[in-house]
Amino acid sequence: MSPLSRFRHLCRSRNMLEVFKLEAAKQISALSGISSETLIPMLEAPKNPENGDMAIAIPRLKLKGNPVQLAKEFAEKIQKNEFIVGATNAGPFLNLRISKTLQRDLLLKSVFEQGSTYGKCEIGQGKKVIVEFSSPNIAKPFHAGHLRSTIIGNFIANVHAANGYETITMNYLGDWGKQYGLLALGFGKYGSEDELLKDPIKHLFDIYVKINVDAESDATIHDQARSYFKRMEDGDAEVLSLWSRFRDLSIEKYKQIYARLNINFDVYSGESQVNEYMEKAYEMLEQKGLIEDSQGAKIIDLEKYKLGKVVVKKSDGTTLYITRDIGAALQRYETYKFDEMYYVVASQQDLHLKQLFKILDLLELGWAKKCYHISFGMVTGMSTRKGNVVFLDDILKEAQETMHSVMLKNENKYAQIEKPEEVADLVGISAVVVQDMSARRIKNYEFNMEQMVSFEGDTGPYLQYAHSRLSSIIRKADRKLDANIDLSTLSEPCALEVVDILAQYPDMVKNLMQGFEPCTVVHYSLKLSRALSACLEQLWVMNQPDHLALPRLVLYTAAKITLGNALRLVGLNPLDRM
Ligand code: ARG
Repeated sequence: MSPLSRFRHLCRSRNMLEVFKLEAAKQISALSGISSETLIPMLEAPKNPENGDMAIAIPRLKLKGNPVQLAKEFAEKIQKNEFIVGATNAGPFLNLRISKTLQRDLLLKSVFEQGSTYGKCEIGQGKKVIVEFSSPNIAKPFHAGHLRSTIIGNFIANVHAANGYETITMNYLGDWGKQYGLLALGFGKYGSEDELLKDPIKHLFDIYVKINVDAESDATIHDQARSYFKRMEDGDAEVLSLWSRFRDLSIEKYKQIYARLNINFDVYSGESQVNEYMEKAYEMLEQKGLIEDSQGAKIIDLEKYKLGKVVVKKSDGTTLYITRDIGAALQRYETYKFDEMYYVVASQQDLHLKQLFKILDLLELGWAKKCYHISFGMVTGMSTRKGNVVFLDDILKEAQETMHSVMLKNENKYAQIEKPEEVADLVGISAVVVQDMSARRIKNYEFNMEQMVSFEGDTGPYLQYAHSRLSSIIRKADRKLDANIDLSTLSEPCALEVVDILAQYPDMVKNLMQGFEPCTVVHYSLKLSRALSACLEQLWVMNQPDHLALPRLVLYTAAKITLGNALRLVGLNPLDRM
């Protein structure tokens, strides 16, 4: 009988730390009279790992008596068993030690069996969320704010999916307004069918720039644009068909670029898609008496909430960005009945979103409180060699090229890579993404191509390298592994350290729901990669006898699974060769 068979039922648990927490909670419950369910969330990793594996602050239990005395008494009374191997107190903290060998056996087996689902949980089961992100403007540059929204938004969607939510990804394009009248005029003057088909995003942008220059010296162009846009608003089929071609072709091109980033949008919405709901929303605002007249314009006064005055209709009757957002929110709720909705938008729009949420709240829409703004800081210094105007594919191309030249520096390795251009593309993307996620979202950062493509330091290439190194060891060993391999020789501190880190993964994924900080995952992945690198130096697989090689391979496989899952969570494609 394998030593694990007594614990077979536990191996099915998706979160091994919880198995140990439950064992600790049972004993503390018997001593304190507080239920295990209440105690489990209070069991945390001690600030100083030397104190043990889990700790509970006795004052939090609100028991009668001196907490320090109680902590001491509990420490003495805790019974050592297969799960809990030590108990001490540090002041009012009760610190517990768990059996590292049992953890190793249970955890590696469970990761091995769960594979790509390791770390997922069901807390969001039955709930639906909309994550709106990226949302560029047609015929305008895809700037750094859009890039961050794209990267962070994809992460927010992945985190929800990993926590069991039904997740709808939505792109809300800037595709309506007078500027599209201007664009259409420009197309008449400068447009080329060939260019449009080749690269609609760039061609439309070029035209837009040219017509704006023309408009500077010819004031009638703006009037023409206004009346053209009026025809669009009135639903004139001819002008709308041109506009929807621009829109469709741009979306097609965007889809290709997003695919490179592993991103898929369930819905391409946009400011142009909300007219009907916007009118509905406007009527609701009037009925609630929220609309005031101000020199011909219609406004909502939010001074009371320190949110200023919001213009919702200009004196010429045209509506605004905010008016469209109110309509869009209504449309989304009526269409999807979401439980939560996230807007992933740069901090420049903090006020805009506060105003939007307040207005929805004043409309007494119960779901207004379920709308969240995921804000983030600015990127400075993002330009490409070609200049300051940036497009997403230019950034990706430049990252790819820079990465490629870094790879070329190591000729031997380069020669072994089957498709170096593809690898350079994926590693280049990892570099951009990891740099973006290295610090808390709200921080500004400086775009630094040199730094992000380095294989040393806290970079995307370093993480990809760690993953591909594991893949290569497993591939070269070419052994059949199963979850019942005896792991008892795997007792070195560096191996048990890796096991500890792997065990934290499910809790980390769950905790991401508080705060949604992608840097948590990046830091976790770096910590795991560093611990692994220490392990790989000491614990070899090649030319080792089976009783050593096989358990090590199980460890490396579980580590590869976990690191791969973490990288996918931030939107990366983990590489097996590079
Ligand atoms: N298109 C906008 C821009 O580029 C971002 C849209 C953000 N989402 C929203 N629902 N307002 O600034």
